[in-house]
Amino acid sequence: MKHMQHEPNANQAIVSIQEATKTFGEIVTFQGLNLNIRKNEVLCIVGPSGCGKTTLLRSINGLCPPTSGKIVFHGKVVSEPDPRMAMVFQQFGLFPWKTVWHNVAYPLNLRKMAKNEVKDRVENYLKMVGLEAFAHKYPYQLSGGMQQRVGLARALATHPELMLMDEPFASVDAQTREVLQMELLSITEKQTQTMIFITHSIDEAIVLGDRIAVMSHRPSRIVEVIDVEIPKPREISAVKSLPYYSNLRNHIWELLMDQGRRARKEVS
Ligand SMILES: Nc1ncnc2c1ncn2[C@@H]1O[C@H](COP(=O)(O)OP(=O)(O)OP(=O)(O)O)[C@@H](O)[C@H]1O
Ligand SMILES: [Mg+2]
Repeated sequence: MKHMQHEPNANQAIVSIQEATKTFGEIVTFQGLNLNIRKNEVLCIVGPSGCGKTTLLRSINGLCPPTSGKIVFHGKVVSEPDPRMAMVFQQFGLFPWKTVWHNVAYPLNLRKMAKNEVKDRVENYLKMVGLEAFAHKYPYQLSGGMQQRVGLARALATHPELMLMDEPFASVDAQTREVLQMELLSITEKQTQTMIFITHSIDEAIVLGDRIAVMSHRPSRIVEVIDVEIPKPREISAVKSLPYYSNLRNHIWELLMDQGRRARKEVS
């Protein structure tokens, strides 16, 4: 199948990754990587394990700048963590000694936000993810899915211009994962949000993404950027029954299998 690629140019992009390369000693993760992220889009990234997806997110948010090339956010090269970005991690990343309420409040207090504004935001976002009744519990008292909702609320409450999601739903069971996907879809329908979402699941990428970038194995680059031509709002089961969905799924599967075959050839 043929996919149109409407790559925005760097001027229209909120984030522009330009010829970025990241090495750790001998290991080259991504090399000469170019990708532009548009305002208000959900860009999903899929790629083989170890190709450098997490490293790329850490480079975008300034935790781990590229070895060469550059990442531009709002017209400025990223060189340190930027408070206009928020990250959600696979392993939740919550403070175990803080209650749900204080976990969500933490980044807001760091920004020295007024107490009443912190209170409003914490209450609002805990409500949005359905956890207002759990505000005074500790993370260990919650299920994995609930902990990830706290992570989501904490990131959203900062009103980030860019959300960076690193396989946020990978640690929860299949059913909870689908519920979280539905919730995320409905949140992004209510409020526009630019988001980069890394996942190993092709299904998740199609369900959530406005575009999907497929990465190659190391040294990695972008093999293809695909527009997901399924209008939003989306209903997951309806999306999955579309012939377009299975064609797109097969296409991405083939791209990833091809990367796997190449990787094995290089090893043998
Ligand atoms: N701080 C670091 N120091 C040395 N090597 C690192 C560091 N961070 C990542 N790497 C290496 O870079 C490569 C890419 O790692 P990364 O975690 O970005 O991959 P990934 O695509 O996110 O993998 P996965 O899909 O398994 O999460 C790996 O070989 C990893 O060992
Ligand atoms: Mg990773």
